[in-house]
Amino acid sequence: MSSPRHFLDLDGMEPDVLRDILSLGAAYKRGETPSGKDLPLSGKTLALIFEKPSTRTRVSFEVGMRQLGGDVTVLGHTDTQLGRGETIADTARVLSRYVDAIMIRTDCHEKLLDLAGHAGVPVINGLTDHSHPCQIMADLMTFEEHRGPVAGKTFAWVGDGNNVAVSWIHAAVKFAFTLRLACPESLSPPSEVLDWAAAQGGAVSLGNDASAAAESADCVITDTWVSMGDQDEKARRAALTPFQVDESLMKSAGEQALFMHCLPAHRGEEVTDGVIDGPWSVVWDEAENRLHAQKGILSWCLQ
Ligand code: CP
Ligand code: NVA
Repeated sequence: MSSPRHFLDLDGMEPDVLRDILSLGAAYKRGETPSGKDLPLSGKTLALIFEKPSTRTRVSFEVGMRQLGGDVTVLGHTDTQLGRGETIADTARVLSRYVDAIMIRTDCHEKLLDLAGHAGVPVINGLTDHSHPCQIMADLMTFEEHRGPVAGKTFAWVGDGNNVAVSWIHAAVKFAFTLRLACPESLSPPSEVLDWAAAQGGAVSLGNDASAAAESADCVITDTWVSMGDQDEKARRAALTPFQVDESLMKSAGEQALFMHCLPAHRGEEVTDGVIDGPWSVVWDEAENRLHAQKGILSWCLQ
């Protein structure tokens, strides 16, 4: 029996597979039926495990699965025996007897890998402390709708070198674009991820000057200063204050630049109202595209 098609992280996937998933998502968005079937996931069920809150990921997976003819079961951490100590491995074995795929949002990346290692069905990373690959698929779709192919373009990440930044680094290598990260030294992305990008020949650089990163960029991206599970709020806010994305930073990028944020945004912290509500911002398209991108991911995992 072939192993399940997991969607765990962009770094472990082939660029042509990622491109196929994006194309599938875009086809669904255009109202096409890429597999020739109106309800290609009819009879299939997706389990959604949430150890952390979610608006976009939860709703886009639920709605996406149903639009493709499938069903979902949503499991909060405290609803299941996981909250009382049943192991991830045993949970994986049991759920695999009931459902056709499992999405997990977890506080610990190792739990995702453990789940995938013991599940007989595809496992999807719905955000961990390390990465957020589904988000970046929607982001790439959004950029390409507005500006064409990402290859050869320049993206600037300004702020915390967090889970979303890690998936952007993976994407820069897989989709051949330049990524300039500007982060406080204390909040740099993990060095092994940067080393991986360098070893792959990726055009990924890290500095701590937000203006230098944003200058003439095709897209400026940021995220919350305090991610779910982060403890050191006060120190983070202090370190990240110089990395706020405001109108003057976007002007240094230029009129062509897009602004992206995975949301939820903390207006007045990592981004000003003038930017998120301004002419550069594509954040609502980005949020909508979570739905279309999820449908591409689900179709690829389940067919
Ligand atoms: N961007 C994102 O993953 O949002 P949620 O936390 O609402 O799912
Ligand atoms: N970095 C954020 C992303 C939320 C979608 C977090 O992990 O909380």
